[in-house]
Amino acid sequence: MCRRAFGSMLSRTMSDRLRGKVAIVTGAGSRGPGLGNGKATAILFAREGARVLCVDQVGARAEETVGLIRGEGGEAAALAADVTRAADCEAMVRAAVERWGGLDILQNNVGIESRKDLLDTPEDEWDHVLAVDLKSMFLATRAAVPALVARRGGSVVCVSSVAALRGHGRTAYAAAKAGVIGFVRSVAVQLGARGIRVNAIAPGAVWTPMVESLGAEARERRRRATALGTEGTAWDVGWGAVYLASDEARWVTGQTLVVDGGVTLTTREGTLGAPR
Ligand SMILES: NC(=O)c1ccc[n+]([C@@H]2O[C@H](COP(=O)([O-])OP(=O)(O)OC[C@H]3O[C@@H](n4cnc5c(N)ncnc54)[C@H](O)[C@@H]3O)[C@@H](O)[C@H]2O)c1
Repeated sequence: MCRRAFGSMLSRTMSDRLRGKVAIVTGAGSRGPGLGNGKATAILFAREGARVLCVDQVGARAEETVGLIRGEGGEAAALAADVTRAADCEAMVRAAVERWGGLDILQNNVGIESRKDLLDTPEDEWDHVLAVDLKSMFLATRAAVPALVARRGGSVVCVSSVAALRGHGRTAYAAAKAGVIGFVRSVAVQLGARGIRVNAIAPGAVWTPMVESLGAEARERRRRATALGTEGTAWDVGWGAVYLASDEARWVTGQTLVVDGGVTLTTREGTLGAPR
């Protein structure tokens, strides 16, 4: 994605929906060239006026997103942290609070795929996927709550997947992403009275560096499986996050926003992603 494309989005979309807010986006880099969900979300948060701490296990990836945001005149900082570690999650929240005086939004975007079905999944891969895709959300949210409470409320958005909602061949991934939805519903009830909203986004088959290795044929199959017949992008996921993070969603908590071009509505192509 070139700078010019980022720039043209800026002029069309700036509306200050997050003005004055401080946000953390985890997995704010992208694993390859192009635009991942975390990177797009961090950019849109900044365009909407938030100051954004871009967190990534690979510092250079977070720095790249920060460079794009600053290049557009937005405010952002990078932090290298592994969100499967409690100490890193606490350090991440501390960094945002020390830099900008508080925290309003936590976007738990980090996730990795496992493309194996039940019988092929080694135990250590199951543990790793559950740690990255689910435990990280528990650790990051737990670390963020005191700072959100200090601001008298805030928004936590956790990235799930349609893999949680459909029959899906990738067992560890589907289980972790379903766990995210259960986590969100549980925590939303616990934190609602303190003004903290907790929601999930379940993206469908969006084209990001995470799925680059799938190849052209799978990409086409994913596109055709949607009701809209079009491919999603990381921007689609990012806009969902902007809504859930903003005060426009002030009465929305414990929900899962499905951003999938209607793939959960159709079985035209069978079960998306299942081994064939
Ligand atoms: N692409 C899709 O089709 C699709 C569909 C549904 C859901 N999702 C979800 O979207 C989310 C992220 O997508 P993306 O496009 O931003 O992926 P991405 O792989 O491009 O970026 C994720 C970033 O997270 C970082 N990361 C990985 N483990 C980390 C850790 N332990 N601590 C800190 N950072 C870590 C990586 O370095 C990477 O830069 C994931 O939760 C994924 O499951 C994607």
